[in-house]
Amino acid sequence: MYKYACLNPIAAVGLDGFDAAYEKTEDVNEAQAILVRSAAMHDMDLPESLEVVARAGAGVNNIPLDKCAQKGVVVFNTPGANANGVKELVLTGMLLASRGIVDGINWVTENKTDADLAKKAEKQKKQYAGTEILGKKLGVIGLGAIGVQVANSAIKLGMEVVGYDPYLSVPAALHLSGKATIVKDPAEIYKNCDFITIHVPLMDATRGMVNAEAIASMKENAVVLNFSRDALVEEEAIVKALKDGKIRRYVCDFPNPTTAGQEGCIVLPHLGASTAESEDNCAIMAVKEIRDYLENGNITNS
Ligand code: MLT
Repeated sequence: MYKYACLNPIAAVGLDGFDAAYEKTEDVNEAQAILVRSAAMHDMDLPESLEVVARAGAGVNNIPLDKCAQKGVVVFNTPGANANGVKELVLTGMLLASRGIVDGINWVTENKTDADLAKKAEKQKKQYAGTEILGKKLGVIGLGAIGVQVANSAIKLGMEVVGYDPYLSVPAALHLSGKATIVKDPAEIYKNCDFITIHVPLMDATRGMVNAEAIASMKENAVVLNFSRDALVEEEAIVKALKDGKIRRYVCDFPNPTTAGQEGCIVLPHLGASTAESEDNCAIMAVKEIRDYLENGNITNS
């Protein structure tokens, strides 16, 4: 009998993939397997019984990889399983940044009891005129499962796409071949793109990569989108660039006091992968990975 613990709620359709040889436990100290979404595991003592951790999501920065490696605990994530959910929110973020949607909704809500609302809206709407994304240049930094999906959808929406990834995979290159321009230096993206979206994991090498210097080199009025991790971006520098009128908007999926409520920032509460479909896909993949490892010793991670 294997025991597994869930540090976050995990979609039932995934857990249904465990058969009678598995039992859910509330006592993590007796578990062979841990399923986790965003819960931070860094301060946790790893149970002696633990053999495998499966992160139902892409980023593994909430998992103490060194500690796991020292104890021989295998760590899986679920690459691609939530890519469509994140991609759809990135596209939404571009539209939110381009159109007066947020301000317009706020105005209607504030004036909801006004008997002349429709008439007043006809005047007010001039303040919320926006721009279109058709024909605009999108820079995608990081061409993993999510970055490639964002690039493809943006191309279908008529955007010109420029991609950068220091570890570009052959499938990603083939997928985008002839449709996107691949550059060897993110500086080209900063300099030329109207929208810049970041899709890289948070690691020592990427922490703060969108720094004051990178921001200063961006095209005037650029929009920066961050649906990966907030620590990838020097957000104080972003807020300054917004105040200086250097960039137009910062759309971010990680709320914190630096950006929340700041003029020009559109901040969401980490909703990228929060769709029924993404949660189901991640849970199903994570459970498959755990089973394949515990029962067959296979390390598939896909
Ligand atoms: C991810 O890393 O895939 C996301 O942060 C997923 C999530 O919201 O758990």
